[in-house]
Amino acid sequence: MSKTIVAGLVLAVLSTGADGLLWSSGLQDNAVVYACAGGTLSLPWNLTLSGGDSIVDIQWFYLGLSEELIATEAHGNVLTMPAFSGRVRKISNVGIDIDGMQVLDKGNYSVEIVGRSAAGDLVNLRRSVHVFILDGLQTTDNNLHVTQQPVAEYDNSTDQYHVVLRCGTFEYPTQPPFDVTWETPLGQTEQSSSYKDGTFLLKLPNPVEGGTYTCRLPPSAACLHGNGTGEATLTVDKTEARLAVLEARQESLENKNSDLTNKYTTLKLEKDALENRVDDLQDKNTALAGLLNQTVSFHARLHVTQYNLPVGSSLILPRVLNNHGNAYDNDTGKFTAPYTATYCFLATTEDVNVNGRSALSLMVDDTEVDYTETSVALTWQSASLHAVVHLTAGQEAWLKVRVSDNYFDTYGTAFSGFLVDHS
Ligand SMILES: *[C@@H]1O[C@H](CO)[C@@H](O)[C@H](O)[C@H]1NC(C)=O
Ligand SMILES: *[C@@H]1O[C@H](CO)[C@@H](O)[C@H](O)[C@H]1NC(C)=O
Ligand SMILES: *[C@@H]1O[C@H](CO)[C@@H](O)[C@H](O)[C@H]1NC(C)=O
Ligand SMILES: *[C@@H]1O[C@H](CO)[C@@H](O)[C@H](O)[C@H]1NC(C)=O
Ligand SMILES: *[C@@H]1O[C@H](CO)[C@@H](O)[C@H](O)[C@H]1NC(C)=O
Ligand SMILES: *[C@@H]1O[C@H](CO)[C@@H](O)[C@H](O)[C@H]1NC(C)=O
Repeated sequence: MSKTIVAGLVLAVLSTGADGLLWSSGLQDNAVVYACAGGTLSLPWNLTLSGGDSIVDIQWFYLGLSEELIATEAHGNVLTMPAFSGRVRKISNVGIDIDGMQVLDKGNYSVEIVGRSAAGDLVNLRRSVHVFILDGLQTTDNNLHVTQQPVAEYDNSTDQYHVVLRCGTFEYPTQPPFDVTWETPLGQTEQSSSYKDGTFLLKLPNPVEGGTYTCRLPPSAACLHGNGTGEATLTVDKTEARLAVLEARQESLENKNSDLTNKYTTLKLEKDALENRVDDLQDKNTALAGLLNQTVSFHARLHVTQYNLPVGSSLILPRVLNNHGNAYDNDTGKFTAPYTATYCFLATTEDVNVNGRSALSLMVDDTEVDYTETSVALTWQSASLHAVVHLTAGQEAWLKVRVSDNYFDTYGTAFSGFLVDHS
């Protein structure tokens, strides 16, 4: 039967997969299967059939160097193709054994099934595997070697360094379907610790036992054909091996030490940077505290009513109620700015005399910044002035008498000022 007929059959199928016809666990799809040269390849594909399900037709294919039908079964009759004549045996409902396998018979083996479900639907199922045929040792140079890893290896489960022996090197496409057995110098048999890069590994416990270690292949699994056990040995020098463990440990300690030194250096740099920042902040804090200390204010009133003062003279308010920072001089009536800053000045005055006026200028040095006066014709009037001015340290603010018919009542006359901010 050719592949074309198979394709036609597949087209005729109404549905694939089935509720009833299921693969039983065992040989997974696309699994890797090994067989020995001259031996039997076992392909135990197996379907679970529920009541009413049936198998209509089975075909087994080989896709390797050639592409061919191995055998077919219809209505319970198995027909084996001539190339496989006498070599094929059914072993389960859809599985086969093939005898007399040769190295060249490696490749893809598949089974295709047409079944009928209890409901009468036709179903199509297919599975395949990769087959490798083993002959002899299957190692790179057809020899088995035991070697000792030059550097001891860290194992985080024991938190120790171990000398590792390797047995190989195998040329299997996946991990071999067997384990080697190890014999220690004390005659104990050990399993391999792991398999890696074509070699079986044995991690030697500490302290390392010196002497001969043997790696043995199980003859059946390795397809040695009765050629005796494949085995190789290595003599481990106790002192050298123990030294290797110590060296690895020391190297790791040195690395850790150098790591710690690096971390220390980094931390030290970070600490220095932080200290600089703290210094900066402290400087800023001191500067800010200094600025906060740099406040000044005053408030002064008259002792007695003043009148007929010379025009242009300073109105002196001697009764100091507040003089924080001591910048107001009650001998001259002048405030001297202790800091370059913005200041607010306020003054009020009162006139209770029909013959006099309250008329004042607020001066900064010789410049008038505000001015106020009461009416000469009326009594019981008050006047006020204010200004917010920026002064350079040393500049003076004062009240200047503007007119000769002046009159400043004791009670209603006051002069104050304070620092607003340092900008
Ligand atoms: C075998 O061949 C079939 C058809 O070409 C393919 O679908 C399948 O994936 C192959 N299986 C393996 C294990 O290579
Ligand atoms: C096939 O599968 C059925 C159902 O799971 C099981 O009873 C039977 O033993 C299997 N046969 C073989 C040869 O594996
Ligand atoms: C040993 O193996 C080699 C190669 O695999 C084979 O040619 C030879 O016949 C074998 N010898 C025996 C005694 O089986
Ligand atoms: C050991 O290392 C492996 C791989 O790095 C990790 O998955 C595992 O959790 C580690 N075990 C312990 C005990 O640290
Ligand atoms: C601020 O004034 C207080 C109280 O007068 C003083 O103890 C402190 O040293 C001053 N700070 C600065 C930064 O001038
Ligand atoms: C100036 O003020 C002080 C108290 O702050 C006071 O003792 C003094 O008598 C005042 N001077 C005059 C001229 O009134």
